[in-house]
Amino acid sequence: MTTVLAPGSTRPSSKQALGVRFAGLGRGFGPAQERRTVLRDVSLEVQPGEILAILGTSGCGKSTLLRAAAGLDVPDTGEVLIDGTPVSGIDERCAVAFQEPRLLPWHTLQANVAIGLPKSSSASAGKAKVLELLTLVGLDGFAKHRPREVSGGMAQRTSLARALARNPGVLLLDEPFGALDALTRIRMQDLLLDVHRAQPTTVLLVTHDVDEALQLADRILVLGRNDDGREGSTVAELVTVPGERPRRRNADGLGALRSSLLSMLGVTGH
Ligand SMILES: Nc1ncnc2c1ncn2[C@@H]1O[C@H](COP(=O)(O)OP(=O)(O)OP(=O)(O)O)[C@@H](O)[C@H]1O
Ligand SMILES: [Mg+2]
Repeated sequence: MTTVLAPGSTRPSSKQALGVRFAGLGRGFGPAQERRTVLRDVSLEVQPGEILAILGTSGCGKSTLLRAAAGLDVPDTGEVLIDGTPVSGIDERCAVAFQEPRLLPWHTLQANVAIGLPKSSSASAGKAKVLELLTLVGLDGFAKHRPREVSGGMAQRTSLARALARNPGVLLLDEPFGALDALTRIRMQDLLLDVHRAQPTTVLLVTHDVDEALQLADRILVLGRNDDGREGSTVAELVTVPGERPRRRNADGLGALRSSLLSMLGVTGH
């Protein structure tokens, strides 16, 4: 197991990054006679510690895929396995962060992060962990602030810290930086890489942003229709991003891959 010290930390993270396997996942919505297939036969394996970005057009089923991994939704067919064990019900091995921070407005940032702690943590260990995480996301000094007293980026960092409080083996991020301005977004992307180095976890990152995917991911999954004419999204493409992280933004070598990803998403004229 890799043990990495968080900046300023005196103890290593105790949890391991866990592998995730989607095995023939299918999901549709609506009553039987007019059921619409959203996902069909999605199969792929995400390695422990990998950052997988998930791209696809709006409504193609990205959030549905993530919800299945978190145990927040039950697929019609197939299953998700984490570390070889099927997900059934809300899975404590995963933590989720969404586009909007979803903080409790009456709690301090510290108390909001503490909500993510595993139930088994003692009060003193829990408090130390929360303060360590607030430091990791650059919010030491804001522990006693309430969500309305901080910026959108700071609220989003709090939400990330809350997700990390569980020491998740798998971190599920659903467009976590989508609502942020361009500069804050770049800072958050760098922060995510810092966090990934400091606390070993497998990351599934849903994003609309091709450059974000190229910047952060080991591999990119493009979810969409393939050319067999059947309804529902599946693995349309799975590409490895060349080059070690951290990568130079808009690196020349990634231009062709960027163009082909944009084409797959139906963006032309780039
Ligand atoms: N609980 C539900 N009941 C009915 N339809 C649903 C439900 N959840 C998702 N859907 C439908 O499934 C499709 C995929 O939804 P999903 O939220 O996974 O898309 P997405 O790829 O995350 O889109 P976006 O990029 O806009 O967030 C949509 O058409 C949506 O309306
Ligand atoms: Mg979505």
